[in-house]
Amino acid sequence: MLLLAFGANAQQNTAVIRAGQNKTVISKYIYSHFAEHLGRCIYGGFYVGDTSKIPNTAGVRNDIVAALKKMKIPSLRWPGGCFADTYHWKDGIGPKDKRPSIVNKWWGGVTEDNSFGTHDFLNMCELLNTDPYLAGNIGSGTVQELADWVQYVSSDNKNPMSNLRRENGRDKPWDVRFWGVGNEAWGCGGNMTPEYYANEFKKYSTFMTGDKLFRIASGANSADYHWTETLMKTIPSHLVEGVALHHYSVIDWNKKGPAVKFTEDQYFRTMKSALFMEELVTKHSAIMDKYDPQKKIALVVDEWGGWYDVEEGTNPGFLFQQNTMRDALIAGVTLNIFNNHADRVRMANLAQAINVLQAVILTDKEKMILTPTYHVLEMYNVHQDATLLPVELTTKDYVFGNEKLPAVSVSASADKAGVAHISLTNIDPKNAQEIEITVDASAYKNLTGRILTSKTLQDYNSFSTPDKLKPVAFKEASLKGSKLKVKLPPISVVVLELKK
Ligand code: AHR
Repeated sequence: MLLLAFGANAQQNTAVIRAGQNKTVISKYIYSHFAEHLGRCIYGGFYVGDTSKIPNTAGVRNDIVAALKKMKIPSLRWPGGCFADTYHWKDGIGPKDKRPSIVNKWWGGVTEDNSFGTHDFLNMCELLNTDPYLAGNIGSGTVQELADWVQYVSSDNKNPMSNLRRENGRDKPWDVRFWGVGNEAWGCGGNMTPEYYANEFKKYSTFMTGDKLFRIASGANSADYHWTETLMKTIPSHLVEGVALHHYSVIDWNKKGPAVKFTEDQYFRTMKSALFMEELVTKHSAIMDKYDPQKKIALVVDEWGGWYDVEEGTNPGFLFQQNTMRDALIAGVTLNIFNNHADRVRMANLAQAINVLQAVILTDKEKMILTPTYHVLEMYNVHQDATLLPVELTTKDYVFGNEKLPAVSVSASADKAGVAHISLTNIDPKNAQEIEITVDASAYKNLTGRILTSKTLQDYNSFSTPDKLKPVAFKEASLKGSKLKVKLPPISVVVLELKK
């Protein structure tokens, strides 16, 4: 739990880390990702085909696999998004030249030739060492179709679906635990009411068979608390393991603003939307607590991130945007929020992995760059499956005009070897923030740190300057007994490591 004291004109930044009081584990799945058949995420991103000159394994780029493994990618959601509720998985199996082509209705109206299908995705997950999260089609699909997909990928028995899988060259089932039952059922997934969707969910979920299925209900759009309440009230707990939530850091859906040449006003409003995640997970969790006090059902934030206008000259349906220090800060504050709510938030998927929205990787033919967001995910991976250390934070404000936001955000954890990690952000673009942290725990002796920072919020990695922004050693921290003094420069994300 994070106790925040901001907005009360705090004169100093302080934090107290209470070690040894908590048993909550920060699920590694909070650090999961999302790959949709959208723009250049799959085709031209992950997948270039096995005849490409770009080094690949069964068509999947080797450089991307290496980069994502280094970052640590615990789970990957596929094939959508909105695309999921138009996707018929049987179109994407069997010989590639026999697969039908469809029109990608949601994303640019382009031809989808189904050359990347179930086998391609699940084999890619094995290469990445990541757990697949398949999003089922309930918008335009059927109960039988989803039940068959579960059988096709997971069953070891002899039955029509597992036999078909074997005919298509895969003897052993894959290990697929995470299943989405539709996507954004309130919108592109079928424009349903929560009452109608809850009943549909029960029907689909009943016919999905398997030992360790983790079935995720399509969740609320941001602050639609009635949606969560209806799902929790209507769906019996033995049919559901997770309830989703989608929230994007967006200024105004009709006027999103540029990804790079934004003003401070646009920056402030983006960060306000990102920090709203704290209120969202608090309130959705409180509703879930009423029906599930033992917290068996996870809150799964399976779409989050910054959403801006597409880059000039690119297809508006491809959602391609550059990625700046603003995105690094969105990632830093949001992951701190998820860590601090790890008792209920047990999965989250950044939208999206490559070339779409707040991507961790951008590609241009054979070139590939790691975005500032990638570096934050890589720096923060020390929290994966570590024990949460609750923090009491008092922070100064970042003031813009008549408004203010908390300048500093923080979360902390201790890993299995007893090493503590503290992740901090300073979103104030003008002022450094000094913070005194009291670590109420057995003595730590050794302190190291890494920082991602830059002079301006608008800085980014380009294909000509791919390493402009990357983490470096952080020296502005000192440890004396249980007191840690840290000076966070403006626009910074820092991860400290404390060893005994
Ligand atoms: O991530 C892009 C789109 O945003 C997804 O397809 C949809 O679920 C959401 O509206």
